[in-house]
This record gives sequence, structure tokens and C-alpha cells, in this order.
Amino acid sequence: MHFLKVRDIPAGDLHHIIERGIAIKQHPETVSDALAGRTLAMLFQKTSTRTRFSFEVGMTQLGGHAIFAETRLTNLGIADVRDEGKVISRYVDLIMARMRRNTDLMLLAEGSEVPVINGLDEKYHPAQALTDVMTIHEKLGSVEGQKVVYVGIANNVSNSLAMATIMLGGRFVLCVPEHDPEARDDEHAAFLRDHDTYAETADIDEAMNGADVVYTDTWVNLEYFSDPDFAEEKERRIATFMPYQVNEDLLARSGKDTTLVMHCLPAHKGYEVNDTVLYHPNSVVFDQAENRLHAQKALMLYLLDKLD
Ligand code: CP
Repeated sequence: MHFLKVRDIPAGDLHHIIERGIAIKQHPETVSDALAGRTLAMLFQKTSTRTRFSFEVGMTQLGGHAIFAETRLTNLGIADVRDEGKVISRYVDLIMARMRRNTDLMLLAEGSEVPVINGLDEKYHPAQALTDVMTIHEKLGSVEGQKVVYVGIANNVSNSLAMATIMLGGRFVLCVPEHDPEARDDEHAAFLRDHDTYAETADIDEAMNGADVVYTDTWVNLEYFSDPDFAEEKERRIATFMPYQVNEDLLARSGKDTTLVMHCLPAHKGYEVNDTVLYHPNSVVFDQAENRLHAQKALMLYLLDKLD
């Protein structure tokens, strides 16, 4: 079994993984040698802080070993991705890959004889979403019935978060003026729109009313943020999305003083979120980042049939 998108894991198993992730966070010693002798390959075509550190530390804390590889220093760029995936899988027990293109990730997984985890591509970020629903469950007691509002640009993070929230019985509102064209997936969107717990609106007041969670992410993909070729589009996006900045005014529109603020990080402060709200008492962004470690430990155990 691979974890390339949230739907690869049935809802009941997803729920079990997040409950076990919380238990592992509380008692990490219970799994400290669960993956002794096992190896995780971590392949990165793009930069990362959280994904790289949390998977590598997670594997160490499970008694296993992780190998970090930038793909530009491997032969993944010049060989058949399927063949390279097959070869790597003959050495390791698990692969986690951050590829620029979902199509390449799919080829890697097609060749691999061991489970492959998507560490983010242009369409999905399922390991992040797993962590996000675990954080909501941890903070609010359950995902079921919670109103999760995503504000900003529809992208790989919102795609996966929407799916995980809906699968666990939450309500999801996508409040965006635009979609990142790279993240578009019509079949995924049709599946979501088939649920009455999923809604889309560009109206901030309507979306935020009664929100239990407000979530945002960067309006410009990190690799383009300082790219001179993207400068004009970046300025256009800032003008379009500024009314959707998560600030005190937007947060207050929930009508609740308990609305959690979430962000997958890294944040562009002053753009999609301001300093005050990022460091607000309701902000759980750093717990959320920490939870990458715990949720992914449970995920790796699950994929290797070691999760009790
Ligand atoms: N949220 C996230 O995936 O962070 P990194 O890009 O630093 O891994």
C-alpha cells in the first residue's frame, strides 16, 4: 500500500492512525524499537524543513535508519523513474518522496516494491493533512462536526486537508478567490463536491461564521517566491488575495473566541497571515509542525504492518 493521496487509506484506518499518533506522542518509548533494522529512503526534488526533519527523526525514534537524498545527486533525473524506484525499493523498506510532479511520484510508486509516501507534490500533501487532522483531534477532541475553513489559495495543502476533514466527519469550507492551476484535479474536486459537508465560497463572512478552525497557506509556491520570472504574477496574487489575509479582523468574524489558527508553514508573514495571528494564543501552528513527527511515526508503522 502507498500513501500518495489521503484516499489511499480508508477513513477508519485514518482515524486509528491519528489516535495512535497522539498516543505515541505521549509515550514514544512504546515504539522505540518497532522499526529496528528497517530503512526509510527520503528523496527530495525540492527544499524542505519540516518534512525532512520529521521523517528522519521519526525513523530514528522508531529504531530504524533514514537515508536522505537530493534527487539531483541521484540518477532519478536521467533514468526511468520506475526503474530507479524499483532499485531503491530493493534496498529499503519504505520510501518517502517529495517530487515536483505528481506524475513522477506515480511512476516511482509504480516501480517500487515497498510503500511510497508522498512528501508533497503539486497536487497533494497527504502527510501534512494527516498531521492536521491529528492536531484538530488533539486540540478539539474530534474532527467530526468541526467546521474547518481554509482561506487563501486552493492548492495541494487544501486539496488534502479537505479530503481528510470530510473523511473524518468534519465540515470543510474552501474560501478562495482562485485556485492554483498546478493543483487542479477535477476528479478529486468532484468527489468533494458530492458531500454536503463540503462547501466553496469566496464570501469571507459566510465562510468564517462559526468556524472552529481557520487554516491558510502561502499564496505563492516557495520555489517561485523569489523568482524574477514570477514577480509579476506574485504581485497580482498579493493584490487578489490580500482581502483573504488571516488577521485579527478575519479571525473575529468566526464569532467565537476559540477558533484555532493553523498553517502548514513556512509562512510568509504579512501576506497570507499577519504576525499577530500567527503568534496569537489560538494559533497552534508550532504544535502542528511538531505533530508531523508523531503522526508520521504512526503512518510509517501502519504502512509496515507494525501499528497495533
Ligand atoms: N509544511 C511542510 O511541508 O514544510 P516543509 O516544506 O518545510 O517540509
